Amino acid sequence: MQIGPWKLSNNLVLAPMAGVTDRPFRQLCRALGAGLAVSEMVSSNALLWGSDKTRRRIDHTGEVAPVSVQIAGADPTLMAAAARFNVDNGAQIIDINMGCPAKKVCNVMAGSALLQDEPLVGRILDAVVNAVAVPVTLKIRTGWDPARRNGLAVAAIAESAGIQALSVHGRTRACGYRGEAEHDTTRAIKAAVSIPVIANGDITTPERAVEVLRHTGADAVMIGRAAQGRPWIFREISRYMETGERLPEPAPAEIGRILAGHLQNLYAFYGEYTGVRMARKHIAWYSKRQRDGNRFRSLINKIESATDQLATVSDYFSQLSERQELAA
Ligand SMILES: Cc1cc2nc3c(=O)[nH]c(=O)nc-3n(C[C@H](O)[C@H](O)[C@H](O)COP(=O)(O)O)c2cc1C
Repeated sequence: MQIGPWKLSNNLVLAPMAGVTDRPFRQLCRALGAGLAVSEMVSSNALLWGSDKTRRRIDHTGEVAPVSVQIAGADPTLMAAAARFNVDNGAQIIDINMGCPAKKVCNVMAGSALLQDEPLVGRILDAVVNAVAVPVTLKIRTGWDPARRNGLAVAAIAESAGIQALSVHGRTRACGYRGEAEHDTTRAIKAAVSIPVIANGDITTPERAVEVLRHTGADAVMIGRAAQGRPWIFREISRYMETGERLPEPAPAEIGRILAGHLQNLYAFYGEYTGVRMARKHIAWYSKRQRDGNRFRSLINKIESATDQLATVSDYFSQLSERQELAA
């Protein structure tokens, strides 16, 4: 897939997830086969730009191009300034969030709340596209609620504003995360616009990725929650799309190695105190389907030091590996 001047290595995209898709996780997903990884959103509120959180979110050291950074907000001038600020700090693609239903975001009329006001959508997109020389992409839900599924209208506004790719999460804002995502609206959008379209929502397996691509005709798929604790899902989908072959789940020894590398990058990125805490949810996701996972997670949540956390993780996955070898 092509986004402006950037030719992606494949059509698999890691979805932006606040609190999850920090630089260590994006780098890991890219290394395991994602063609693009969108950063967590950076607020358009300049008052927050000096915070530790924003400083970390604009740190792209060592990331493989293209670096895509998401911005959120509802004021065209502030959004344009946020786009310029991120481009000055290394963003090579700016992604606009009109897809996040979080209360914190919706109450200030950003994220998916914007979908209600089409003229404002147009003004924001124009302002951001005109503010930066890099490609601007947009992420939307299918509409505000099932009665006002205006995704098609928003897609047309996006195309005429010069948006270079559109991600569509197949739910309305009102649907939250309930029910199953529908991809019919994405299919209709793809048929109506000529910019690249990325289908998103409930893609959890290689088979589902291929089905959604076929059904929608989309140019790429975007994966969020299914990559939590399973960053190798990208190489699984990529192999399946190339060969029809289903890779086996990684063995515990390999999961242990991937997780240990992930943890070391979290400690280096956040420092020990925050790194150990950020790591807990990832460790919980990686161990979700594993034997004795509950006991392991309650142990992990009590550990405060990076050395102990890493050693406990290594022991756990070594034990799983030994058990598996004995059983074989
Ligand atoms: C923890 C979490 C945080 C999210 N944060 C954002 C965000 O900052 N910006 C955004 O556009 N979408 C955000 N999303 C929505 C995802 O990008 C994605 O659209 C949604 O999870 C559906 O895809 P999935 O079924 O593959 O998870 C978030 C989702 C989750 C679960």
